[in-house]
Amino acid sequence: MKQSVKLIAGNWKMNGLSASLQEAKALQDSLNDSPVAVRVALCPPATLVAQMAWTLKGGTVAVGGQDCHTEASGAFTGSIAASMLADAGARLVIVGHSERRAGFGETDADVSAKAEAALAAGLEPIICVGETLEQRQAGDAVAVVSAQVMGSLPTSLSGQAFAVAYEPVWAIGTGLTPTLDQIEEVHAAVRAAMVERLGEGGRTAPILYGGSVKPSNAAEILAVAEVGGALVGGASLKAEDFLGIIRAA
Ligand code: 13P
Repeated sequence: MKQSVKLIAGNWKMNGLSASLQEAKALQDSLNDSPVAVRVALCPPATLVAQMAWTLKGGTVAVGGQDCHTEASGAFTGSIAASMLADAGARLVIVGHSERRAGFGETDADVSAKAEAALAAGLEPIICVGETLEQRQAGDAVAVVSAQVMGSLPTSLSGQAFAVAYEPVWAIGTGLTPTLDQIEEVHAAVRAAMVERLGEGGRTAPILYGGSVKPSNAAEILAVAEVGGALVGGASLKAEDFLGIIRAA
């Protein structure tokens, strides 16, 4: 099967002030000195998107947002439209992160609408799915994640640049990771659901794994079938750690 280039994306979540841009600069400097064959992106908080895009201008590290609104503009105080992220220099945007699904009540339909808004603004959406610990313990991980893929991917993704990220909720920020067999099982199910939803258009987009990825486990996770990259939280905040993951890919 045709494999797309791996994507290693960092999600800074609600971390980072302007001083943190030096980490982005150090990352880009290292990749300039010693380039890699994977795509690299950093998704800082919205307040840093423009500054980071400026800092990395002309470099290989792409900048992304962490969320966008479903609408292109309007009376939505505090929200950010996909076109605003694009205008600030972002090329990607994470949508449907479990922290937004759980903390802000986002549904699959909301996530699908956000992915559509991202495409309309010319951004590459990274659409997140993942089961909770209860769902995994009940034996429902594959069913839950497959249903999220079916409900969260708009059909307009077909033929567009996008990624899906499988992030088991219980593995995020906990140091816990699924076994490699569990990752392989869910990624295969995600691919099957992508193809069911999008037809041929669902065959090549990368499926990222996210949840406690670090330099010491990145190589084995990234070698699993259908793992097309990683979405990295805590270990993306420091250039040195993030580089350890990127260079393991
Ligand atoms: P951690 O890498 O900190 O577990 O976070 C994963 C994540 O949620 C990335 O979006």
